[in-house]
Amino acid sequence: MIKTLRRPTLTVQGERVGRTFDHLAEAYDESYRTKAHRAEDYVTFRLLTQVLPFFPKVLDLGCGTGLLLEYVYQQPNRYLGVDVSAKMLKRFRRKFPLHEVHQLDVQEDIPRRMVGAFDVAVGLYGALSYADRPAKALAFAYDALESGGRMFLQVYGDRRRARTEALDLLMLKDARFYTANEIAAYVLSAGFHDVQVVGMSAMGHRLPERATQGTLNAYLWAEHRIFGRRFPDWCPWLVVTGRKP
Ligand SMILES: C[S@@+](CC[C@H](N)C(=O)[O-])C[C@H]1O[C@@H](n2cnc3c(N)ncnc32)[C@H](O)[C@@H]1O
Repeated sequence: MIKTLRRPTLTVQGERVGRTFDHLAEAYDESYRTKAHRAEDYVTFRLLTQVLPFFPKVLDLGCGTGLLLEYVYQQPNRYLGVDVSAKMLKRFRRKFPLHEVHQLDVQEDIPRRMVGAFDVAVGLYGALSYADRPAKALAFAYDALESGGRMFLQVYGDRRRARTEALDLLMLKDARFYTANEIAAYVLSAGFHDVQVVGMSAMGHRLPERATQGTLNAYLWAEHRIFGRRFPDWCPWLVVTGRKP
């Protein structure tokens, strides 16, 4: 797979966001250990596994500390993570020393070795919401895929602005929020086909910690099926899928 990548310079936005996540890196994983967050993960990875083919080569855009690998078994030679934050990547390497990651800005030009090298491009929990030039970041994802490759993104919906947990205030200051139609238009104009946008976790921030994990998982899944599909703009997370023709 990819052995060496030229390290491109970060964009101004990439540097700014990288600094923010450097600051958050130590506390990042621990902040998402609640049952409500795990229920969001349950829905996320149930949806993601629907688009993952067998033994794919996965590009994890804005991989952070490696959440994807906590839930999906992926051989090291079939995985590459990229992120602008050196400290998020440091934590990643501590958790998954065998998997390859690079400090790289998805708003820069894609390194030649990555072009057409992946079956799936994933951007979990808002990673591409930090692009101030979404078309550029989506072109990166598009170019990384081989023909027929699938993209799976979660971007911040407009509803996410309303959340004001301490971590969010810092984390969301450089983020961009989308309606379902806006993000669908960007993804379509990047060249993707079969574009779908669904919402998730409308009530995720209000789930009671005293309920069992199974109950919360079942609730959020049902909510996504009934509510998130029809009213994505009422949800803080938009899950966007598309296919490279
Ligand atoms: C909210 S975190 C999500 C991390 C991880 N995907 C997860 O689900 O835990 C967003 C991540 O995207 C990274 N990021 C933001 N803009 C980026 C860019 N232009 N290129 C690469 N990574 C970026 C941040 O450094 C951060 O690690």
